[in-house]
Amino acid sequence: MLARIAAPVNAGAMGLEAEIAARALLEFWAAAGVDLEDARALLRARAPAAPRQVAKPSPPQSGRSVAPTPSLSPARRPAPAPLDDARRAAAAATTIAELRAAVEAFEGCGLKATARTTVFSDGVEGADVLLIGEGPGREEDEQGKPFVGRSGQLLDRMLAAIGLGRAANVFISNVVYWRPPGNRPATQGELAACLPFVDRLIALANPKLLLLAGGVAAQTVLRKAEGVTKLRGRRLSHVNPELTKPINTMVMLHPAYLLRQARQKRLAWADLLALEAWLDELGAARNPRL
Ligand code: URA
Repeated sequence: MLARIAAPVNAGAMGLEAEIAARALLEFWAAAGVDLEDARALLRARAPAAPRQVAKPSPPQSGRSVAPTPSLSPARRPAPAPLDDARRAAAAATTIAELRAAVEAFEGCGLKATARTTVFSDGVEGADVLLIGEGPGREEDEQGKPFVGRSGQLLDRMLAAIGLGRAANVFISNVVYWRPPGNRPATQGELAACLPFVDRLIALANPKLLLLAGGVAAQTVLRKAEGVTKLRGRRLSHVNPELTKPINTMVMLHPAYLLRQARQKRLAWADLLALEAWLDELGAARNPRL
């Protein structure tokens, strides 16, 4: 298992507290029955060096006892504010390249501790269509690109059926940038930590159409509680805190769901046709020979 572990995302950069928090989280997910062997191996590979021995101060010469300097227990230290950090870093990015660098430098999402790579985007920057999915899986984590595993291959075939493709006219990203250990769902906190970057990406990419793959991407980006079966295939309009104008938005069934539920492909096909018609009305670039 260890031999398959490539260089970690931020080897050496993770502090002791983050390491401890990551281990506690892993134990929690292991107890919940999630297969976490990869993530554990990564943490073993980046285990911190043994703490340095600090010399005990010599007793005071005067004989008076000196009160020890109070050190705040972890529980009493001011909590880090990853959301504020994320908002600041995302707002400072004025291009997609700067946003990618900001995401890569961000330390406020616990998922980074167990991921091999940061998975930010693939496809054509500035494309008319921006597709946002749920988050990296094993293959995406290995290659550092979204949607390259089995569900990505199905996604490519679905998009090609209506003249869309990442090499020509689609830009692809996710609502979290690091693989959750064992492919568990990202927590609300992890999604929230990444959301300022997602909002900023939508604003900077300014697509003619935003395509949200699956319920998690739809609910997170749109801030809606409705399930994907209610949202899919409809012409929606999305405004987030970063946007000055509404963005045309459609939700589609996630290709990973379609791999499990092949009978639902007929719904996905109906949605693709609805999407194709809307793209043409919007004058969005399609290439029917893809
Ligand atoms: N599923 C997603 O939602 N995103 C990916 O990048 C890969 C699989």
